[in-house]
Amino acid sequence: MQVKVLPLSRWKGNEQTLIMFMGEGSPAPLGWKGGEASLKRLMVASRHEGFAGKAQHVVLVHPEDEDPARRVLLAGVGPVQGLSEESYRRSAGVASKAAAAAGLKGVTVLFPERGDPARVRRCAQAIVEGVVLAQYRFAHYKTAADGTPGPLEHAVILRNDDAGTREITAGAALGEVAASAAALARDLVNEPPSNLTPQKLAERASKLGGRVRAKVFDAKSLERMGMGGVAGVGRGSANPPVFISLRYQGSKPKSRIALVGKGVTFDSGGLSIKTSEQLETMKCDMAGAATVMAVMKAADALKLPIQIDGYIPAVENLPSGSAIKPGDVLKLASGKTVEVLNTDAEGRLILADALAHAVKEKPDHVIDVATLTGGVMTALGSGVTGIMGTDKDLVAALLAAGEAAGEPMWQLPLVRDYEEMIKSKVADLRNTATRKEASAIVGGLFLKEAVGGASWAHLDIAGTAWSDREGPYAPAGATGCPVRALLAYLIKVAG
Ligand code: BES
Ligand code: MN
Ligand code: ZN
Repeated sequence: MQVKVLPLSRWKGNEQTLIMFMGEGSPAPLGWKGGEASLKRLMVASRHEGFAGKAQHVVLVHPEDEDPARRVLLAGVGPVQGLSEESYRRSAGVASKAAAAAGLKGVTVLFPERGDPARVRRCAQAIVEGVVLAQYRFAHYKTAADGTPGPLEHAVILRNDDAGTREITAGAALGEVAASAAALARDLVNEPPSNLTPQKLAERASKLGGRVRAKVFDAKSLERMGMGGVAGVGRGSANPPVFISLRYQGSKPKSRIALVGKGVTFDSGGLSIKTSEQLETMKCDMAGAATVMAVMKAADALKLPIQIDGYIPAVENLPSGSAIKPGDVLKLASGKTVEVLNTDAEGRLILADALAHAVKEKPDHVIDVATLTGGVMTALGSGVTGIMGTDKDLVAALLAAGEAAGEPMWQLPLVRDYEEMIKSKVADLRNTATRKEASAIVGGLFLKEAVGGASWAHLDIAGTAWSDREGPYAPAGATGCPVRALLAYLIKVAG
């Protein structure tokens, strides 16, 4: 989708539908510039439709005159006191979907804020993200149009001539990059699993382009690298495992960040097989990998002055005559041995290898992203990512980035006393706990064994990477979370 920023004075006016944001109980749309008479007509017409500016309520009105536009979509943002950027993101999403559903190809959005440049920039970014992300469809496999109108093709952000041109333009540009990165992650996650095997994922990673370089290690090299976790989990499938190593090298890097993404292209559970219902969405188990790829592509698009090393262990977790069995012992890249008691706790096995590999390069920080446990969904639901880590400041920075991106996270504690639950009688570790409790934390504790003293954070996105329901700016399916949060974090690091 094409996004443009235009000053109000250059706007030809009424050829397109104008989206205006409206606070609950506000006397006029936010950023309103029209005359008194037309404002009155607009307010009367919207009241007739029962519109009061409630969050994510939209109403299409046709004021009799053409000031400011022939058709106006009023988009409610709720109470204006302490209005968050996420309110704009959601409201812009809902309004732009309504516009597309009405058969429109483009919209104009009146920019609602002025003043604080940082706030103006963040709002512009949020609005563009809302509009662009809400238009996302995964339609590659539809052979016929389903009768619903297609997505918007262009959007114009109208700015008041006196309000922060530079900020709005910069925010909008950032919004476009962030939204297309999230869309890339959604595309990868939504792809049917047999069309996105470990090998195919590696091909996609190799084609990210720009200054992102990829190296792909095959099943043979995994043995040489001591990656018994990746090799072991991958052993049950006819599609062999691979280890993908990516590097984005920004110029004069201010920091070196390692990103590790869980790349289970399909998680059947292995011999500890899942139920049919659980299997339905298990193509989403490579969402961590998709996040890493998308974030690195965006960092390249923004030319961030940092170095990012991306590590993706990619496997299919399937049951077969060659699959690992409960009771088997694997040797991880950290040198530690694991007794595999449940082949469905496979993510930690492959991530432990990748994390041990990542810390060898001594990055400033290591962040892993993984659809790791159903338990995180029990604890935090589908709207909040679980975060754990060894570095308070890193966790705080990621929490702040999540908040800014509208992709919230909540910290779970790495309880030392629970470490005893993953001690094995046969090997150094066991891959599932001795008690059925705190499984998200136990997953985190298992990973911690691989990172040594590194500054490390773990994002458990099992609840947030996929949604069975449509959201204000996402259809049901892959959400693209937490691409925008991680990007916000990296932008901060890059200064
Ligand atoms: N990929 C799953 C976690 C998951 C669950 C992701 C639901 C997305 C939605 C993971 O590999 C898994 O199976 N975890 C097990 C661990 C258990 C066996 C200790 C779980 O959470 O049940
Ligand atoms: Mn599993
Ligand atoms: Zn899994």
